[in-house]
Amino acid sequence: MLDVTKVKVDLSDRTYDINIGQDILNNFGAQLINLTSGRQVILISNDLVYNYYGQQVKRSLERENFEVLVHIIPEGEEFKNWQMAGEILSILLEARFNRDAVMVALGGGVIGDLAGFVAAVYQRGIDFVQIPTTLLAQVDSSVGGKVAVNHPLGKNMIGAFHQPLLVWADLDTLVTLPEREWLAGLAEVVKYGVIWDEKFFYFLENNIQKLIKRDLNVAQKIISHSCAIKARIVSEDEKEQGLRAILNFGHTIGHAIEKVTEYKVYRHGETVAMGMVAATQLAINLNLCSDLTLNRLKNLLEKLGLPVSLPPVSIDNILDTLLLDKKVRNKKLVFVLPRKLGQVEIVKGINGEIIKKCLVSK
Ligand code: NAD
Ligand code: GLY
Repeated sequence: MLDVTKVKVDLSDRTYDINIGQDILNNFGAQLINLTSGRQVILISNDLVYNYYGQQVKRSLERENFEVLVHIIPEGEEFKNWQMAGEILSILLEARFNRDAVMVALGGGVIGDLAGFVAAVYQRGIDFVQIPTTLLAQVDSSVGGKVAVNHPLGKNMIGAFHQPLLVWADLDTLVTLPEREWLAGLAEVVKYGVIWDEKFFYFLENNIQKLIKRDLNVAQKIISHSCAIKARIVSEDEKEQGLRAILNFGHTIGHAIEKVTEYKVYRHGETVAMGMVAATQLAINLNLCSDLTLNRLKNLLEKLGLPVSLPPVSIDNILDTLLLDKKVRNKKLVFVLPRKLGQVEIVKGINGEIIKKCLVSK
């Protein structure tokens, strides 16, 4: 059994720990009791995840005399919406949950973002705990306090910053994750190597088989290290005034691909993989980085079974979508671009023609 690793997210009076360990769901209630005086817990999950892990979490809370209300939401990104948030708010009001109540999110990023958003607005904010069960949620979405629901006119367009009280990541939950979800999560792990830590990138290059096979020692190491990098960035720039934007490396073109394919074809991490490659090609075209960086990145992503080439969609559609971004001024875009592995730069004023050239030349 692996020891639990703790990563601290340092945010003065809102500092919290991310716990990463094996078989820790049973101890969740005993941990939570130390952090809250409230006794009411609403546990949000979906059927699939609840059937695997819900009872374990519920029992651990009830052992500590928490009063647990379970609410199951339907499976899918399309339910991360305003209406579903409204339903949960009504349930909380009808059950007379007070301001000491705790919201617990058990699931991937969809559940975490939705439950976190409700926690941020219910009675102007109640405590919130993340129990992430996908790799993507364990390395990214459960950390840093971005919570949101989607609007028909845009993804994550209604949201808040609301930091969790605790993140409780059980490695054992990753065993049931479908292969494609696991690999998509690895794209975000690779991102941390490119934006922050070349040695970590090198570690990933040297552990490809263990990564693919979900070796638990390696999983714990990459999750802890990814969380440590994100924790450091969020501690320095919680509300994304500057530095935090580097976490969006690969996401600008990635989001455009997701949108033009109507969120139906690719997992988020897969588009991040394509987006990181395209952004690195852009950096080369702007003489910011070398071919070697691109080759190592492509090679690692390909070996991890992730897509690196743009899908057969119209480049003009991608470009039009990019230009709709709220940060665009005078048709000029902002991109996070690599200088080398482990170092990126936020580059402003990039015009559509330069982007088009790099998308076509791939
Ligand atoms: P997801 O929540 O849709 O989960 C993926 C699939 O895996 C779902 O079908 C889910 O039911 C299933 N699943 C979850 N845990 C499982 C387990 N242990 N075993 C078997 N199946 C399991 O997707 P995701 O990739 O975790 O999250 C994507 C969401 O996260 C998007 O809405 C995205 O906008 C959001 N996100 C938020 C942030 C942030 O900072 N808040 C960052 C990145 C992504
Ligand atoms: N996932 C990007 C961020 O948390 O800022």
